[in-house]
Amino acid sequence: MRHQRIIFVVVSLFCATAVYAQTFGSKERMPRPNEYGTVEINNYSERAGIASVVFAHWLHRAKYTCRLCHVDLGFAMEAGQTGIREEDNRNGLYCGACHNGTEAFAVEDRKHGAKQEKSCQRCHSLGVDVQAKYDFYKFVKGFPRARFGNRVDWLLAEEEGYIKLVDYLEGVSIRRRALKAPLDVEIDAKVDEMPDIIFSHKKHAVWSGCELCHPQIFGITKASTVFEMQEIFDGKYCGVCHGKVAFMTLDCQLCHTKDVY
Ligand code: HEC
Ligand code: HEC
Ligand code: HEC
Ligand code: HEC
Ligand code: HEC
Ligand code: HEC
Repeated sequence: MRHQRIIFVVVSLFCATAVYAQTFGSKERMPRPNEYGTVEINNYSERAGIASVVFAHWLHRAKYTCRLCHVDLGFAMEAGQTGIREEDNRNGLYCGACHNGTEAFAVEDRKHGAKQEKSCQRCHSLGVDVQAKYDFYKFVKGFPRARFGNRVDWLLAEEEGYIKLVDYLEGVSIRRRALKAPLDVEIDAKVDEMPDIIFSHKKHAVWSGCELCHPQIFGITKASTVFEMQEIFDGKYCGVCHGKVAFMTLDCQLCHTKDVY
């Protein structure tokens, strides 16, 4: 009997930690501000004998909208899922849509002459000692601060003009008028302890246009998508972006705001 009780306690402790780990923050190290939102891409690189690719969101999101890359250029919103090939880049697709020597440094940068390895290593940089052109801490110095993630309040940084987002790439994007953002949506938190959520279309449209969310993540009719907090923590719905690139899901108070402010 006693024996059974011990097993029960051990099992419940284990379950408690497992739930804890995937929800309210675990004891794992939090990503450093400069690491948050950084993606390793390695479907083919190591196998081809070259270091894998490190892609930093903080630098790219400070220059372009999420929409431009994830809609117009077709990057998946899950690490590794695009299946980018080196040949694609050289044909002006994916990274190569910008890294062509005009918009950004080219896959083969003439500046490096015969030492082409140096061009390659700017992207194929995992475990390679390369000097990045942009230093994270210098770049974000003076930007409005946030609690977690990159510790940058990106929304304010854009509003206050610290960054200017490009939403159009010649030859890729089409010129069109922005759609009018619907009014804020109130989402019922369904439990008394948690304030309701105010979802602002206006704030999101700046980065995500409309097509980044509709129709793949959210239905277009009111209350057509039903989901729970646990699914957000697991990377679905709001969690497709929040917790990976947009602010972390640990920041409960940034979403559960109704009657708090
Ligand atoms: C310059 C292009 C670019 C911009 C701008 C950009 N992304 Fe990404 N994003 C990528 C690439 C490339 C990947 C990796 C895709 C792959 O590996 O197949 C990625 C991956 C992601 C992932 C998956 C991360 C993971 O760990 O699985 C999320 C979420 C994401 N982006 C959200 C955003 C959000 C939100 C924004 C705007 C704040 C944004 N991205 C801006 C290019 C971009
Ligand atoms: C929408 C345009 C765009 C796309 C797409 C894009 N980049 Fe960039 N990237 C830039 C710009 C602009 C810079 C800054 C270049 C400069 O100032 O020299 C940059 C800089 C970089 C840097 C240099 C960081 C440093 O500090 O030295 C790396 C590495 C990089 N990009 C990797 C990638 C990879 C990998 C992809 C594809 C997965 C990609 N980029 C897709 C526009 C883009
Ligand atoms: C702007 C960023 C960037 C630069 C610069 C770059 N690559 Fe890549 N390369 C990528 C990305 C992204 C992938 C896909 C990575 C993966 O899934 O393993 C890739 C994949 C590869 C692969 C894997 C095989 C394949 O068919 O895709 C090889 C080999 C490769 N690159 C060689 C090079 C060489 C050589 C250079 C320099 C002359 C270079 N790359 C420069 C972004 C870059
Ligand atoms: C970050 C994700 C996101 C973006 C970007 C986004 N939406 Fe939404 N949208 C939502 C969510 C969440 C709902 C609420 C869905 C529900 O109630 O089930 C919604 C609901 C709607 C609705 C129905 C409810 C209402 O208020 O009338 C319309 C219409 C709509 N969106 C249009 C747009 C348009 C137009 C844009 C671009 C200006 C846009 N959305 C951008 C997430 C987004
Ligand atoms: C397509 C990606 C994406 C999805 C999906 C998404 N967001 Fe966001 N959200 C962002 C980005 C990008 C920002 C700008 C701030 C940042 O990057 O942290 C933002 C900002 C916000 C803000 C503003 C915080 C402030 O400081 O005012 C709130 C609140 C928010 N999101 C709630 C939600 C909720 C609730 C959902 C789901 C119904 C959701 N978001 C879905 C990308 C997304
Ligand atoms: C990105 C925005 C966002 C963040 C951050 C966030 N929530 Fe939520 N939360 C939501 C949305 C949207 C719902 C409504 C889902 C629904 O319809 O039940 C929700 C619902 C809930 C519920 C209601 C029951 C349920 O499971 O759906 C609880 C409890 C909750 N959140 C707790 C938290 C806690 C605790 C945190 C911080 C650790 C947090 N949330 C952070 C957006 C967020």
